[in-house]
Amino acid sequence: MQASRPFRTAIVPAAGLGTRFLPTTKTVPKELLPVIDTPGIEMVAAEAAEAGASRLLIVTSPGKDAVAAHFAPQPELEATLAARGKDALAAKVRRAAELIEAGTVTQDEPKGLGHAVGCAGDALGPDEDAVAVLLPDDIVLAAPGEPSVLSRMAAVRERLGGSVLCAFDVPREQISAYGVFDVDDTVDSGDPDVKRIRGMVEKPPADQAPSTLATAGRYLLDRQIFDALKRISPGSGGELQLTDAVALLIAEGHPVHVVVHRGGRHDLGNPGSYLRAFVDFALAHPDYGPALREWLTDRLTFPDEPVRGA
Ligand code: UTP
Repeated sequence: MQASRPFRTAIVPAAGLGTRFLPTTKTVPKELLPVIDTPGIEMVAAEAAEAGASRLLIVTSPGKDAVAAHFAPQPELEATLAARGKDALAAKVRRAAELIEAGTVTQDEPKGLGHAVGCAGDALGPDEDAVAVLLPDDIVLAAPGEPSVLSRMAAVRERLGGSVLCAFDVPREQISAYGVFDVDDTVDSGDPDVKRIRGMVEKPPADQAPSTLATAGRYLLDRQIFDALKRISPGSGGELQLTDAVALLIAEGHPVHVVVHRGGRHDLGNPGSYLRAFVDFALAHPDYGPALREWLTDRLTFPDEPVRGA
């Protein structure tokens, strides 16, 4: 826990339909899909707690109760595991509840990320001037020995005020797959990885992209965002976009900065990138990594051989 905490609540929107993972998401929330054995939302809860959050506010929807249930204690399961001498497994069961206090707000219909965040506004205490938002399908890995990007964003809010977003520097030939920041390089923030934002452009052609800084699923937002969310109109697909509310704040002179993240990142939101995340974490795992590396090497060397090993 950090000494100074510019926010204590971390909103985690988890009320989407998860259509890219159908048919699994008919019954299993996307946010509970495992990376090895741990759901993405638990990894994100750990990141929020490390950056100083004491409360996780999960935006959930009817039928997705299992997401919040993951953070409830399970004393009977723990007792059964303890009685069988499986203390390490009991500790895994306890971890989510011990990490952070979790609460929920309900979004009745999936009307977009902005709408989901807006649903959490009334649940904040009157003294909470800022709130973090973490997308649970975005895994943002701190560079070795560095604080998490959310901690860096908190420090930027303390120094410069306003709202702080997170960016990844991606190769220009890939930039048109992302939301892209338009940054003002004439403003000296005192740190080359902290830039003032002029605006955001959704998926621009590579030669028209205002920068190579792509938006990522971490936000540290001034409380004014909830008022801005009430004043924007639905965008594409009839959804309320969080970025439209941020753009409104920028247009009104509210300071918004971006921190360029130099560590790793995984997108758990679609099967292709989820697979890469799973393999990457598995290769680094002390129990599974060595055998997987051997198996994969063999598989790639003899791609036409039938799979025999388990
Ligand atoms: P995504 O667009 O990645 O998730 O939203 P999705 O809509 O569930 O997935 P697809 O596109 O249908 O496959 C990012 C995060 O915002 C939440 C989602 O649950 C996800 O964690 N979200 C999205 C909401 O909470 N409410 C919404 O209306 C939309």
